[in-house]
Amino acid sequence: MLSAAEPERKFTDMFSPLSVPAEIIHDSAIVVSLICLAIFLVVVFMLCYVIFKFPSKGPEDDKKEPPQIYGSSQIELAWTVIPILITVVLILVTVRTIIDIQDREMPEDTVHVRIIGHQFWWEIHYLKPDGVDANGKTKWVTDFVTANELHIPVSSRENPRPTALQLESADVIHSYWVPQLNGKTDLIPNHTNRMWLEPLATGTYYGNCAEYCGTQHANMLIRVMVQTQEEFDKWAANQRKKPVDSTDPIAVAGHEVFYKYSCVSCHRIDGSPEPLAIFGPDLTHFASRRWLGSGVALNNTENLLSWMRDPHVLKPGVLMPNMQLSETEVEQVTAFLQTLK
Ligand code: CUA
Repeated sequence: MLSAAEPERKFTDMFSPLSVPAEIIHDSAIVVSLICLAIFLVVVFMLCYVIFKFPSKGPEDDKKEPPQIYGSSQIELAWTVIPILITVVLILVTVRTIIDIQDREMPEDTVHVRIIGHQFWWEIHYLKPDGVDANGKTKWVTDFVTANELHIPVSSRENPRPTALQLESADVIHSYWVPQLNGKTDLIPNHTNRMWLEPLATGTYYGNCAEYCGTQHANMLIRVMVQTQEEFDKWAANQRKKPVDSTDPIAVAGHEVFYKYSCVSCHRIDGSPEPLAIFGPDLTHFASRRWLGSGVALNNTENLLSWMRDPHVLKPGVLMPNMQLSETEVEQVTAFLQTLK
């Protein structure tokens, strides 16, 4: 599944950005850090100077107050004006970064994605334009749905190919953070936040939910697969397809179990009756995903069997209940899920 051209970027290091907005943030962070370092060094130097220049002259001397100086307008002016100037420089650097990132014009062929945070996974809708609304703004509707693993095309400086993310939450506050791709942005209930990614190298990038959201916050992992345009188009075309019904008798039995135990109340498989609500990840192309439980374990037979027996073994505190399936049913549902390529 992983080719040499598609390295795993497990190193979540914000000091080695590989995306345009992450680079912009990185550069301004370096400027701000250098200014703070200069202030720190000046303060430490002055402190050391005073300590060594005016040592104690004995216990008697320590009891007296040192001479007090009042009313030096030069000193007062200096310690008022210099910090103001430093603050103005810091404000300018920050504002420029914010404007650079928030007001970026997105090109025509930008990939638009809506991500909805849930305890403890990510619902991902790829969007497509659907005419314009009354205000002349493009209306976006869902093209296809997936979960947890965000696939996006790689960009380049000559030919920018950004992905615009629309971030929402179904329950509590989460935060989307892939350090090498952008700063963190919160997903807030009843409020849409936005961010964009413009990755300059292919690979699988690792990230985390960055806002405490409950027992499995630490296992609300993020995986961003940055692919070549060709690979991305191929992946997207497959995600748009309806799953093909398998004829394997074990998988067919698993499909029945899936409905019998109302797995379908929480998980949607396109073509299945509409669920009451999306509580759990869309499983239409479940077998095409590399991980289970939002990055908690690799999506292989062994882990999937374990998940079917009791999801709390791999992810304690996950909101999916133990469905109390028999061992035969566990194997049948596993076989069924593995047909959902
Ligand atoms: Cu979601 Cu922390």
